[in-house]
Amino acid sequence: MKQDFVQIAELRRTFDVSKPWLNRVLEGGEKQFLKAVDGVSFSVPRGKTFALVGESGSGKSTVARMVVGLLRPTGGAVEIDGVKLGPQARGGAVKALRRRMQMVFQDPYASLNPRWRVGRIIAEPIRAFGLATSKREMDMRVDELLALVGLHAADARKFPHEFSGGQRQRVAIARALASKPELIVCDEPTSALDVSVQAQILNLMRDLQEQFGLTYLIISHNLAVVRHMADQTGVMYLGRLVEIGEGRDMFRNPRHPYTRMLLQAVPDIAAIGATRTAVQGEIPNPITPPPGCTFHPRCPLANDRCRREAPAMRAGVACHAVEEGRGEAA
Ligand SMILES: Nc1ncnc2c1ncn2[C@@H]1O[C@H](COP(=O)(O)OP(=O)(O)OP(=O)(O)O)[C@@H](O)[C@H]1O
Ligand code: SF4
Ligand SMILES: [Mg+2]
Repeated sequence: MKQDFVQIAELRRTFDVSKPWLNRVLEGGEKQFLKAVDGVSFSVPRGKTFALVGESGSGKSTVARMVVGLLRPTGGAVEIDGVKLGPQARGGAVKALRRRMQMVFQDPYASLNPRWRVGRIIAEPIRAFGLATSKREMDMRVDELLALVGLHAADARKFPHEFSGGQRQRVAIARALASKPELIVCDEPTSALDVSVQAQILNLMRDLQEQFGLTYLIISHNLAVVRHMADQTGVMYLGRLVEIGEGRDMFRNPRHPYTRMLLQAVPDIAAIGATRTAVQGEIPNPITPPPGCTFHPRCPLANDRCRREAPAMRAGVACHAVEEGRGEAA
């Protein structure tokens, strides 16, 4: 069987969020662990886009950081083009993949060195990976990268603060492209931008994907953003995937009660005339998640089974009600 470019199996990450040892001794209290990612599996074929969506704290960024090797999983595995990154992965594995995967963050202002000119920022990965043999070749490559993201060669001499938010995101994308990656992981790439600028950046990302056959993992809490980009979308809630859907299917026909709740809260997706309800209820404390289906305190379809038993992912949905055939048409 041919493997997908990105393959994520039963990925887990626990954080120790205990009080310091001495406080525990003096004030009492157990060690506390937070399951930020609790058994997430999905795969992304080469050249395709997988989107991860969910409310704040659902574990999206933690997944992203494990995928690019910035964070070691507690369990499960990430496999990129057949190279395994897991709790027991050999040290060289991440290194071998480093050039081939890059991350673009929400706030390029925080991720671009403010004291460096843009030319140097973009040249840095070229230098680090030894991708140019002369200064001249390096400069040409920087010019080329700037042009690719719709900036001018003269912009190489400017500092990050001399750009608008959208332009800065273009710089961050140029820097990501500099190492000729195959996978780009974008964590909320457009959340900080105006809607019209967001659309421009997303269009640019699509063009680049086509041009270079890039594989994308896009993270967003905004379903409107990913609807236009994703070949597949995974919805996360409290560290778990609750629904995975193909293309626009999930947006037309959301099945999990949580996905429906999220979609109802997105204005430009709600059908005309339908009532728009905000996302209801609070996300529970992830240190002490509710038993059974962790969504049950917020779910209109919850019953006794939901309060007892965690639903398994079946045919793209993890929900007892969907499995039992109740409430899907609601
Ligand atoms: N280094 C850490 N130490 C302790 N807890 C952490 C750490 N990193 C993340 N968490 C916790 O793990 C959970 C998932 O966090 P994560 O940042 O992955 O969520 P997210 O879906 O990206 O949220 P957001 O939309 O706000 O970016 C949260 O409860 C968060 O507080
Ligand atoms: S398993 Fe139960 S509580 Fe969880 S989403 Fe489905 S119906 Fe709601
Ligand atoms: Mg995040």
